[in-house]
Formats: sequence, structure tokens, C-alpha cells
Amino acid sequence: MSSAFAEESGGTGPFGLPIDAALAADVKERLASVEARLLESVRGDDPLLAQASKHLVEAGGKRFRPTLVLLAAQFGDPAAPGVVPAGVVVELTHLGSLYHDDVMDEATVRRGQESANARWTNTVAILTGDYLFARASDILADLGPESVRVQARAFARLVRGQIQETVGPADADPLKHYLQVVADKTGSLIAVSGQLGAMLAGAPPHVTDTITSACEKIGVAFQLSDDILDIDSNAEQSGKTPGTDLREGIRTLPMHHVLAGVGSGPDDARLRELLVQDLTDDALHAEALALLRGHPAMERARADLRRWAEDARGELLTLPDIPARAAFTGLCDYVVSRTG
Ligand code: IPE
Ligand code: IPE
Ligand code: MG
Ligand code: MG
Repeated sequence: MSSAFAEESGGTGPFGLPIDAALAADVKERLASVEARLLESVRGDDPLLAQASKHLVEAGGKRFRPTLVLLAAQFGDPAAPGVVPAGVVVELTHLGSLYHDDVMDEATVRRGQESANARWTNTVAILTGDYLFARASDILADLGPESVRVQARAFARLVRGQIQETVGPADADPLKHYLQVVADKTGSLIAVSGQLGAMLAGAPPHVTDTITSACEKIGVAFQLSDDILDIDSNAEQSGKTPGTDLREGIRTLPMHHVLAGVGSGPDDARLRELLVQDLTDDALHAEALALLRGHPAMERARADLRRWAEDARGELLTLPDIPARAAFTGLCDYVVSRTG
């Protein structure tokens, strides 16, 4: 599994960003502190809880959200005492949501390892997720009531997104519903990563607001690319099982485009027929996945993804022109081109 500073990622900065060397070194050093505190925070006297919570921390992960905290903090004092703990808080919140998400999505692989629900049971995975949320709250308590509120609201949005995804659009516009789900379940925490970093570093309020808004758009783009990768990547790249959304009956952007009539071709009618069926059967699932991979709706979804990333970039370019701004705009390219 890749991390923010994975060797294969190219440039010197996190996520292979070709950024200022001093900034890259600074972020790398603070990410190492986040890492150490993360491991410390999941220690506990119950052996199963300790083992199950360490399981995915040690499996890797990109640390995308802590990286955003650290980059946003550059717009104030990046050495302010709340910055590194805020990085730990957003990663723990994210990780807790992954333990629960894998129960909901019946996923067996996460970060290239067995998911906690597969390795142990749903009960263990749910309780471990709860434990990680509790550990995040404990650290948050030292960051003050405003940080507690900001994280609590993001967490509430994340849960709302997950439940809205489960319930489905009913009579609402399916595409609008999907984009709301994506903003809530993923955009919220990515927005708050930027917000907490800027806020705790003492950045000016208008800078914090711009970072928050741009990060929400980066977050939407991040989930759109996750959904595209779920169709169009292999398990080695993503550390997850491809085609999970199709199998679980979760309609993502390319599927909405197919059902809305984007593109036409000999396989179109067949794919539409498959998309409204239960796809837990292996042969049907494989057929649908292959047809979807080759469908023009994929290109339309990629164009949508690029638009979200460009909107984020437009907002970021109103920020003061410091090296961290270039890092943020580089992340707009990363979310479009990432493969895992
Ligand atoms: C996966 O997030 C869940 C989404 C919100 C798309 P990441 O892609 O950041 O997962 P890790 O942390 O690298 O494992
Ligand atoms: C994850 O959405 C969102 C949250 C955990 C809040 P997905 O279910 O699409 O993410 P992956 O693909 O399993 O990582
Ligand atoms: Mg999932
Ligand atoms: Mg899910």
C-alpha cells in the first residue's frame, strides 16, 4: 500500500508533488510525528482491541487527510501545538469510518490486507471503529471546543452521507442525490482536514474559509476518482476489491451516466439491464464490470472529475502565493490522475 511519501510516487513532495524542498521536508517530518502519535493512540490494555485497531494503522494508507492538515497549517504557524494532533484526529476519524464502511460494504480487503470484519467479525470491526472515534475525541478535547464542534459536524455529515447512500434517492434526482452523498460522506472530512490545519495554525479567517471550501471540492473529486477506480483499477493498485460498488448495488457516477443514456452502442441495452439487477452472481458481476469499463460513461465521469478538480484549483489560486499553495494545486492534479 502506498503512503504519502511512497517511493514510486515521483517528485519529492507528498503524493509525488514537485514542490519546494523545504516544504516537502517539513511536511515529511510532521507526518512522521502524526504517524508516531497515531500508533501511540491505538494502544490499549485489551489485547483484541489493541490488535484490531493497530491492524489497519500498520497496513498503511495514503495519509491524505493528515497531509491536508499539514499543508493548510502552512498558511499560519505550522509549528503551532494543535497541528500534529489535528492530523491524528482526522486520520483516526477516517480510519474508524473505514472499519464501519467495510462492514456495510461487506468488503474483505482494505489497504491490501484482510479487512477487520473478514479477519475477525463484524462485531469486532464495529467496536474497533467506535474505539478509534473515541480515541479521536480524546485528542480533540485538548484542541478546544471549536475544533470539537468542527470535527463533530463533519462526522455527522459523514454518517448522513453513508445513510443516504444506503437509503438511495427514492424520488429525488439520482445524480443530485449521488453528489450530495459524495460531498457528505467524503467531502466533509477532507474539508475539515484543511479547516482544522488552517484554524489551529492561526491562519486568517478568510484564508481558512477558502481552504475549507477548496478542500471540500478536492474531497468530492477524491471520491469520484475512488468510484472510477473501483471500476477501473486492480486490487494491487487500490488495496481493495474492484467492483465492490456494483456487487453491493451502490450506483456511482459512471453507472448514473449509463442509466441516463450517455453513449450508445451495441452493449448499451445489456449494461442498462444488468445495472438494475442484483449483481451478486459472479458471472453477471464480471459481465457488468467488463461492459462498464469499456463504456463511454467512464470518460464522461472522468470529465466530471476534472471539472471538480479545476473548480478547487480556481479557489486555491486566490490564496497567498506561498509554496503550500502550489502543493495544494498539485493535489488537484493528483486526485485526477491517481491510480490507488
Ligand atoms: C478511502 O479513502 C475511502 C474514501 C473516502 C474514498 P482513502 O483512499 O484515503 O484510503 P486510505 O486512507 O489511503 O486507505
Ligand atoms: C467510503 O466510501 C466513504 C467513507 C468511509 C465515509 P466507499 O465505500 O466508496 O470507499 P471505499 O472504496 O470502500 O474505500
Ligand atoms: Mg467501501
Ligand atoms: Mg461504502
